[in-house]
Amino acid sequence: MKNVISILTMLCACVFTSHAQGSKFQTTDMEESKKVLVAFFSRTGENYAVGNISKGNTHIIAEMIANETKGKLFQIETVKPYPDEYEACVDIAKAEKENDARPEVKGDVKVEDYDVIFLGYPNWWGDMPMAVYTFIEKHDWNGKTVIPFCTHEGSGLSGTERKLKDASKGATVSEGLAIKGTTAQNSQPQALKTVQTWLKKVNK
Ligand SMILES: Cc1cc2nc3c(=O)[nH]c(=O)nc-3n(C[C@H](O)[C@H](O)[C@H](O)COP(=O)(O)O)c2cc1C
Repeated sequence: MKNVISILTMLCACVFTSHAQGSKFQTTDMEESKKVLVAFFSRTGENYAVGNISKGNTHIIAEMIANETKGKLFQIETVKPYPDEYEACVDIAKAEKENDARPEVKGDVKVEDYDVIFLGYPNWWGDMPMAVYTFIEKHDWNGKTVIPFCTHEGSGLSGTERKLKDASKGATVSEGLAIKGTTAQNSQPQALKTVQTWLKKVNK
């Protein structure tokens, strides 16, 4: 009986170890030679958590990622800007989400020329801003690696990785980073550390 128990214990240990190793290596292969794009949406103006800002929270994180990866930075901007006034923006964003709107975006970047695309956005009503969908739907994502990052004030990514997967057909979507807007704006050394640790993880 003792022998049976020790064999079972060994088997369990093996299964556990191989499972742990398996999940450890489920990460993106992002070699140095790969072309990296950091596309993001971000808003300035009144923000209830961090006051009146001249650089958006997601923008700050996007710059950190671009700096660390030597990627090209691209800001997704709407033709019609969102109001600086927080409540007015919240109302517009709510209506856009309810209507599954596709606000027109200005300028563009050829996503098709890149291998790895970091896609950044603020959490708006538990989703990506609708303008991010406009941007996604303009491009062919087949074979691309998409790595989401989001700033928020408590909701995290809110399942946007799944939405991103559905929207960017043919792409492999990696584990995303959720970081609080207050951290991005007010505690940048801490935010940078978080970004660096996460990048190491997705780069394995
Ligand atoms: C229209 C709107 C909707 C928001 N909805 C949420 C939300 O559902 N959950 C959340 O945690 N934060 C929400 N926020 C807060 C933002 O996600 C947060 O302030 C973010 O860091 C803003 O990023 P930005 O400065 O790059 O635009 C919302 C902010 C706005 C303007």
